[in-house]
Amino acid sequence: MRRLTVALGERAYEIQLGQGISQQPETWSALRGRRLKLLTDSQVAPLHLPPLRPLLGLADDDVMVVEAGEASKTWASAERVLDWMLAQKLARDAVLLALGGGVIGDLAGFCAAIYQRGIDFVQVPTTLLAMVDSSVGGKTGVNHARGKNLIGAFHQPRAVIADLATLRTLPPRELAAGAAEVIKYGMLGDATFFAELEAGALEALLRLEGDTPAAVVARCCALKAGIVGLDEREAVSGGPRALLNLGHTFGHAVETWTGYGAWLHGEAVGLGLAMAADLSARLGWIGADQAQGCERLLLRAGLPVRPPAGMTPADFRRLMAGDKKVAGGRLRLVLLRAVGEAVLTADFDDAALEATLRHYCGQP
Ligand SMILES: NC(=O)c1ccc[n+]([C@@H]2O[C@H](COP(=O)([O-])OP(=O)(O)OC[C@H]3O[C@@H](n4cnc5c(N)ncnc54)[C@H](O)[C@@H]3O)[C@@H](O)[C@H]2O)c1
Repeated sequence: MRRLTVALGERAYEIQLGQGISQQPETWSALRGRRLKLLTDSQVAPLHLPPLRPLLGLADDDVMVVEAGEASKTWASAERVLDWMLAQKLARDAVLLALGGGVIGDLAGFCAAIYQRGIDFVQVPTTLLAMVDSSVGGKTGVNHARGKNLIGAFHQPRAVIADLATLRTLPPRELAAGAAEVIKYGMLGDATFFAELEAGALEALLRLEGDTPAAVVARCCALKAGIVGLDEREAVSGGPRALLNLGHTFGHAVETWTGYGAWLHGEAVGLGLAMAADLSARLGWIGADQAQGCERLLLRAGLPVRPPAGMTPADFRRLMAGDKKVAGGRLRLVLLRAVGEAVLTADFDDAALEATLRHYCGQP
């Protein structure tokens, strides 16, 4: 088992990761004697809940199952979860476990944040995306009809328990979407890691081969933990945490244009990574060959690297103008000074952005 610490003073916590660790009683030793409740979804429950029930001593009413998918990340679902917790008269020393992907982690974390002003929760991520990204860092929340993640709270988990064995049942498309976030970490903060992915670690990850998934997830979590440790709440606009949004401004535009759900979040981020690299190359910050290298790696993961048919540069501009990173009316983007070194900047030539948008939208 690997252990990493997210260093946040009194809110510090450990990430435990390894093959089969959720089946080992010692993994849960810190929770012994606590009243446990577990939230999961309808796809994960039949696959990964049965062995946990006896281990954690969970009775039927200790478990709540919501429909699998993004549609469950709503205020209405949160209300149902809170109703369930209140009906059980949960005291403040109870612990809510989130068994599932980012949807369950965000929903459970949000409910834990606001139930009686905050109770402990533990992330038990079962998607690659949740293991490398959403389970670490304390962002919790639900979507609103006006947009994604508009209602939420910062609430750090007490622990993250990532059992790599759960990835064996994850559909390949979901695994690839998580790989986009993995590639993102290499591009934004670790050139050596990026080179290792290029040298074959990517395929070993996608095949869930040997120790590679654990090593890759540990590397990503260490990078994220380092950034979160510097900038827990994205307190300074444009602080280090903003770098985690590499690829996200372009990606969100695609997700909004297609209507949420048609493209997986990781797929949209993957395209955004290619576009950010392309723009960085047009600005002369990285070589054209390096930008192409990023795109090749995304393709090797089986990710789409062109926007949906019909999406135009004007669509991108309109949707990107609504991004949270717009400051003083000026669009800011996370771009690459080098592969392995991202910056948030408004200092880019608009003609270069137009060229990237036209290139990707297939307009001469
Ligand atoms: N809080 C954060 O910092 C943060 C960061 C990134 C993304 N997110 C959020 O995460 C969500 C996306 O997360 P996700 O991609 O994990 O989606 P998800 O939770 O919807 O999981 C994807 C699908 O895989 C299924 N699944 C999960 N684990 C499985 C397993 N082991 N085997 C088989 N099927 C499994 C789920 O039931 C679901 O159908 C979005 O809502 C996004 O906003 C949050």
